[in-house]
Amino acid sequence: MITDNNQACDLVIFGTKGDLAKRKLLPALYKLEKYQKIHPNTRIIGAGRADWNTEEYIKITKKAIKLFLNEKFDENIWKKLSLRLIFVNIDVFKDCYFLNLKKILDQKKNIIIYYCAVPPNTFNAIFKGLGKVNLNTLSSRIIIEKPLGICLETSKKINNQISKYFSESQIFRIDHYLGKEAILNLLALRFANSLFFHNWNQKIIDHIQITVSESVGIENRWNYFDQMGQTRDMIQNHLLQILTIIAMDQPKSITTEDIRYEKIKILQSLKKIDINKISNTIARGQYISGIINGKKVPAYREEYGANKNSQTETFISMKVQINNDRWCCVPFYLRTGKRLEKKYSEIVIVFKKIEKSLFEEFNNNLSPNKLIIRLEPNPNIKFEFINKVPGLNKEYKLESNKMEYSYFDLKNNYLIDAYERLLFESMRGIQSLFVSRYEVEEAWKWIDPIIYAYQKTNINTLQFYNAGTWGPKNSDMIIMQDNRSWEKFN
Ligand code: BG6
Repeated sequence: MITDNNQACDLVIFGTKGDLAKRKLLPALYKLEKYQKIHPNTRIIGAGRADWNTEEYIKITKKAIKLFLNEKFDENIWKKLSLRLIFVNIDVFKDCYFLNLKKILDQKKNIIIYYCAVPPNTFNAIFKGLGKVNLNTLSSRIIIEKPLGICLETSKKINNQISKYFSESQIFRIDHYLGKEAILNLLALRFANSLFFHNWNQKIIDHIQITVSESVGIENRWNYFDQMGQTRDMIQNHLLQILTIIAMDQPKSITTEDIRYEKIKILQSLKKIDINKISNTIARGQYISGIINGKKVPAYREEYGANKNSQTETFISMKVQINNDRWCCVPFYLRTGKRLEKKYSEIVIVFKKIEKSLFEEFNNNLSPNKLIIRLEPNPNIKFEFINKVPGLNKEYKLESNKMEYSYFDLKNNYLIDAYERLLFESMRGIQSLFVSRYEVEEAWKWIDPIIYAYQKTNINTLQFYNAGTWGPKNSDMIIMQDNRSWEKFN
């Protein structure tokens, strides 16, 4: 059985021996096989520099899937998936190797999808190699993943390189946050519920918080991370993407073009951070050693391969404003960091309090209505609202309560991993969950001056925080100076 107009594809994974392929892509393909979401004639072609034949590749792939699958391994599903696998030995820096790939791809007339699960410095060699042997056919698609540059200029360079061989409608840029179920639900939540649809603006909303906190550190990626920092690694892409979906106007339709159009408008309306007042708007931190889950963990500067003087931030929180009518005077507070107390991601919409409440004399301190959208762990949505305390009280006592909708309560539904969703969409050829060139470049336009300010001025000095806490002290200051506070994890 084949569902959801999925097409017969040849999915070529460059970097099939690497971490991304083993941890994420291959287990995701196994799951899609399980859900019967892969066309019967689809083939999966692992491309890498190795003297393997397909039989060896199948063995190695099985091992990787068993290791990284988050459920019991089923031999029947595996058998079906394994029949799709082919290995091709490729040195992407040598054009002649692409002929090996061409021979395999020419056997069928499938739609070709190239997944570049390789470091960006290899991208151009792949684009060129494919072009040389005319494998960049008009119906082919190519998937690339961050980092797409480290600034506007370098990102333009990658975009220019790829656009010599593939048109924008063939390029699928992954931001894996866009594949997360709770992010996908934001469109439904905002545009299918009249309660939220009509009240999603500065008249009713006081402010919005977006937190993406991680308890892991740099995990042997020190060299990569140190030239990125948390601003480029997380804010430029994941957090800004979440912000655009939260903030955009309703698109004319659910098509890729209309959604992207609205997202870009938000990126273009981001108010420039005033570099002279940067320490009022941005808190930058770097972790020193501390305790996480009862275990002592080293400082960032003591991690494997570290430069002892690194000034790179592992934490950032910032106040962001959007220059448009809907969001005038509504701050968005963004916060993300490594080695924090807990791994969790959450969006909190805080509504305005009623100005002159009927119950003012009894309760001054009730919290405002909040919509709390948990992305991870245990995705759920909570709505915090005010009720009368039941009972024979003399006074009119009120309290805040939460209504909760948890994704795990849903019968007959399963939570799809982001890579499962994104691979599935790429096989369908739908780009709305992928990022366009213009989004990437608009995001860099806004981020570049901030990073420039970190580097060239001493106004905003790096602060240190103990691993296992919620970041440096000035992160609280960023929000407390506006008489607000970070929503606590619970
Ligand atoms: C990646 C970043 O894009 O996202 C990593 O490069 C980060 O530094 C990861 O750890 C977080 O993803 P998730 O899905 O675990 O929140």
